[in-house]
Amino acid sequence: MTSTTTPTPLLEARNLSRLFPVRGSAGLFRARQMQRAVDDVSVAIHAGEVLALVGESGSGKTTLGRMLLGLTPPSEGTILYKGADIASHAGEAARSFRREVQVVFQDTGGSLNPRRTIGQSIALPLAYHRRLDGRAAAREIDALLDQVGLPAAHFRDRLPHELSGGQRQRVGIARALASNPSLIVADEPVSALDVSVRAQILRLMSDLQRERKLSYLFITHDLGVVRALADRVMVMHHGRVVESGSADAVLDAPSDPYTQRLLAATPVPDPSRQLEEMS
Ligand SMILES: Nc1ncnc2c1ncn2[C@@H]1O[C@H](COP(=O)(O)OP(=O)(O)OP(=O)(O)O)[C@@H](O)[C@H]1O
Ligand SMILES: [Mg+2]
Repeated sequence: MTSTTTPTPLLEARNLSRLFPVRGSAGLFRARQMQRAVDDVSVAIHAGEVLALVGESGSGKTTLGRMLLGLTPPSEGTILYKGADIASHAGEAARSFRREVQVVFQDTGGSLNPRRTIGQSIALPLAYHRRLDGRAAAREIDALLDQVGLPAAHFRDRLPHELSGGQRQRVGIARALASNPSLIVADEPVSALDVSVRAQILRLMSDLQRERKLSYLFITHDLGVVRALADRVMVMHHGRVVESGSADAVLDAPSDPYTQRLLAATPVPDPSRQLEEMS
């Protein structure tokens, strides 16, 4: 391989579309109308890269994220993980895809089993993905809790309802990290949280990304977050990508009218202030 060869992206989507039936459109004499929630989107995420995905509500961000996670099958198009089509994954390839690509969503903390302790919730992916149990699992649970800023001795044996929203989201992040992922799809991971803890969780995710050389697909409404975290940004509108490029270039000089309107509607704080708020 020569130095001019572009490395294979970690995750790549080619011409992805997803159609959904429009609710209430089917009738006795009417064919069901279909809506293109995602319409011919191609995207590549490289190892260690943070790609932000922005766009107004209903533009198809979550649908695209779910397809990239293998949770929603595309109607058209192909998804390649490390160069191999995930639709034809089987056996070890399918297992390593499920292990290496994880999700943190808006209410990840709220989806914890209310009857399991924090430690038990993190033990599950350790057993499933890494076959860790007993003492090795206990050590790893403690290390993961420490990494997300929850002292293990205090939190390991608590139940989810004994934690704040921000602490539960930290547990959600620990659970995603438990399988040693290379890519995390984060779908508005802080938007359900109190404004005062958002910056802390963003700081944590930013630190983890750097320390573990993770890739993120970071779905957000907040252009300030894009400025602070993302290498590249992709803007969606009605299921299509209307603009993409380096985060600075797009935010400083958006070329698409829709991106310009989005920016005008949400002033972006300058990066130094944003980072200050995050520290
Ligand atoms: N399971 C589904 N069945 C039918 N329609 C769906 C389904 N999931 C999403 N849609 C539709 O697809 C479109 C895109 O939805 P999606 O959730 O991807 O948007 P989004 O950009 O994530 O929005 P938000 O910012 O509000 O989270 C919407 O019109 C939505 O109603
Ligand atoms: Mg969404």
